[in-house]
Amino acid sequence: MSNDKTWSGRFNEPVSELVKKYTGSIDFDKRLAKWDIQGSLAHAQMLCEAGVLSQDDLAAIRQGMAEIIAEIEAGKVAWSLDLEDVHMNIERRLTDKIGDAGKRLHTGRSRNDQVATDIRLWLRDQISYIQGLIQNLQTALVDLAEQNADVVMPGFTHLQVAQPVSFGHHMLAYVEMLGRDFERMADCRGRVNRMPLGAAALAGTTYPIQRETTAKLLGFEQICQNSLDAVSDRDFAIEFTAAASLIMVHLSRLSEELILWMSPRFGFIDIADRFCTGSSIMPQKKNPDVPELVRGKSGRIIGHLTGLIMLMKSQPLAYNKDNQEDKEPLFDTADTLIDTLRIYADMMRGVTVKPENMRSAVMQGFATATDLADYLVKKGMPFRDSHEVVAKAVRHADEAGVDLSELPLEVLQGFSDLVSEDVYTVLTPEGSLNARNHLGGTAPEQVRFQVKRWRRLLA
Ligand code: ARG
Repeated sequence: MSNDKTWSGRFNEPVSELVKKYTGSIDFDKRLAKWDIQGSLAHAQMLCEAGVLSQDDLAAIRQGMAEIIAEIEAGKVAWSLDLEDVHMNIERRLTDKIGDAGKRLHTGRSRNDQVATDIRLWLRDQISYIQGLIQNLQTALVDLAEQNADVVMPGFTHLQVAQPVSFGHHMLAYVEMLGRDFERMADCRGRVNRMPLGAAALAGTTYPIQRETTAKLLGFEQICQNSLDAVSDRDFAIEFTAAASLIMVHLSRLSEELILWMSPRFGFIDIADRFCTGSSIMPQKKNPDVPELVRGKSGRIIGHLTGLIMLMKSQPLAYNKDNQEDKEPLFDTADTLIDTLRIYADMMRGVTVKPENMRSAVMQGFATATDLADYLVKKGMPFRDSHEVVAKAVRHADEAGVDLSELPLEVLQGFSDLVSEDVYTVLTPEGSLNARNHLGGTAPEQVRFQVKRWRRLLA
């Protein structure tokens, strides 16, 4: 009978074409080839050092793998569904090239510890790349913050005008979120960077393996300490997808704001044409497609998180074929996140800020009402009373169709005799910003302080 399958010896009939397609993973796991070979080379070297594999076999394996890498890079490998997955495709290619030495590579190893190792090696690289992209996006936002430290915009709560804030301060809020996202990725990377290899199928192996040697060769910081756990858990993949989901949620929130701000009703910003598209029917349209898609794709990543958790939740120990389903969501999470972070940094560098429109929006929502209340408190009025006094003043200004800062002094004094000429310094948006000059506050001086802090952290 055909020897297509590495495990074909005990079967009386080959699997059907449908089953082959259903159980095969080569279509998507072939992208692990580079990491699979990296793992195999380290395993072979360790076997040789342990006296399990001869020097000649090791040399042949190295030579064969070098050729396979060149073939993959040249796009010359014909991946075969008959060989199920990337691991068996590569092993077969190696054996075709070097004969028995190729068949000895899998000594003391199982695809179960092999695949867990491959994914961890792959994910470790993706996380490092993602960390750099997060910092690149942070830098773009810090640049915007620096350029716009003095630009006042309405800060919102409940999407109603609340208090004036610096646009730079608003940008730095996202820099903080991304800073925590970076920490989460770093933290997750530490748990990804542990080596399952040596667990074999589930119980370990009878060969005198040196797991420390393999771990060192592969740059793993730690070794999985329980063979059953090593082959079966994918919590590291769930953790990564959770961290990715949070990044996408942060960027989805920023996207929602960019979309609102670009609407003519706000008119706070413009997004460069290269990130927008037109409408096939409405000639006037310029649509913020990129932020809209980021908002949409965040749902997709959160879906992957849900999928991976569901994948894990009912599996008995140890390895189950269910785990093959970890790859597509994981790959798509990394790909989508990487594309999103890259495009986002470019897009933020192409944002035009419209300070006049932001300022006129501040002037329309009585954004300095709290400042007037604080002013009265500082002159001796209890806060609850000043809140009431200012509410009356706001009602008056609203009926007159003007901002609080546009009410004449006599009118303001009609609400409280504690008001004097100096009230106007707190009623302007700029006065309101400058007054919040403490750590974490929105005063331009604080924004510049945070810009410096982030430049240091990102250096
Ligand atoms: N292709 C499998 C996966 O992605 C790897 C090997 C599974 N091992 C097994 N005995 N079926 O998880």
